[in-house]
Amino acid sequence: MQHLLDLGDLTQDDFLSLLDAAQSELDQPATGPCLQADSVLANLFMEPSTRTRVSMEIAAARLGMSSVSLDLARASTVKGETDEDTVRTLLAQGVRLFAVRSADPGVPAELADVVGGRAGIINCGEAHLNHPTQGLLDALTLRQRRPEPAACRALIVGDLAHSRVARSAVQAFRLLGVEDIALAGPAQLMPDDAAFLDLPRFGDLDEAVAGRDVIMMLRIQVERMSEDVAPDRASYHATWGLTEARLAGAAEDVIVMHPGPFNRGVELSDAVVDGPRSVIWDQVANGVAVRMAVMRRMLGVPRG
Ligand code: CP
Repeated sequence: MQHLLDLGDLTQDDFLSLLDAAQSELDQPATGPCLQADSVLANLFMEPSTRTRVSMEIAAARLGMSSVSLDLARASTVKGETDEDTVRTLLAQGVRLFAVRSADPGVPAELADVVGGRAGIINCGEAHLNHPTQGLLDALTLRQRRPEPAACRALIVGDLAHSRVARSAVQAFRLLGVEDIALAGPAQLMPDDAAFLDLPRFGDLDEAVAGRDVIMMLRIQVERMSEDVAPDRASYHATWGLTEARLAGAAEDVIVMHPGPFNRGVELSDAVVDGPRSVIWDQVANGVAVRMAVMRRMLGVPRG
């Protein structure tokens, strides 16, 4: 695997073997030396991140690699250097993996063209389109809780129009064999693109939740809409917030997922975030294992 740009580029076998590899990182952490000191990771995050950026750093450290995270506000991009020339600069300094996040569609693929076979690009969030490592960690979390995921009734709720997580989650759940995936959210935040066309949609959360055994909640991406369009937090919570009372209509052993960052009291109540059905912190923990597996695969480094 030279680059990871889109889960749609993976076969089901590739996808499942990455999940198996990530699970092995959790079950049998490598004990022997796994130093990849000549394989440097560079984080190029042109949008804010906590989970993804830090998990890339931790994953690199666990593999014995060095990593650098560019502070783009203080990098030479502010002097006019292009993203492409920034990547060429880091490539010349020995970087072999780039974790890229951008608000602009196409940037990870453009940078993959720049590096060609000399380095790998890991798409760590591309506009509203792709977040493949998030899709992998979501699938891993689902599979840990539901060893037979194909039978799951999944629901994704919230700001689907602006969500790269939702697009990658739909791809990931399908690669796991999940057939029943439904969407719910306010009409103005529902997507109109092909990625979601054949999925059933609900305009009422209580109806949508009924009988579901996997519910993924999404944040309203206020940074991708003008203030006058952004829903009021309190009224959004009243209509679309997941509460314990609403969860009572779901399957008894429902799991609640959220990619983070989440807004307590908006899309989720405190009780749901902190309650027994939440697997949110499992998702975060799985992010490190998934990114270790992806980096090993891209560098061709087997587990010792
Ligand atoms: N889920 C996710 O991508 O979180 P961060 O924006 O904190 O990386």
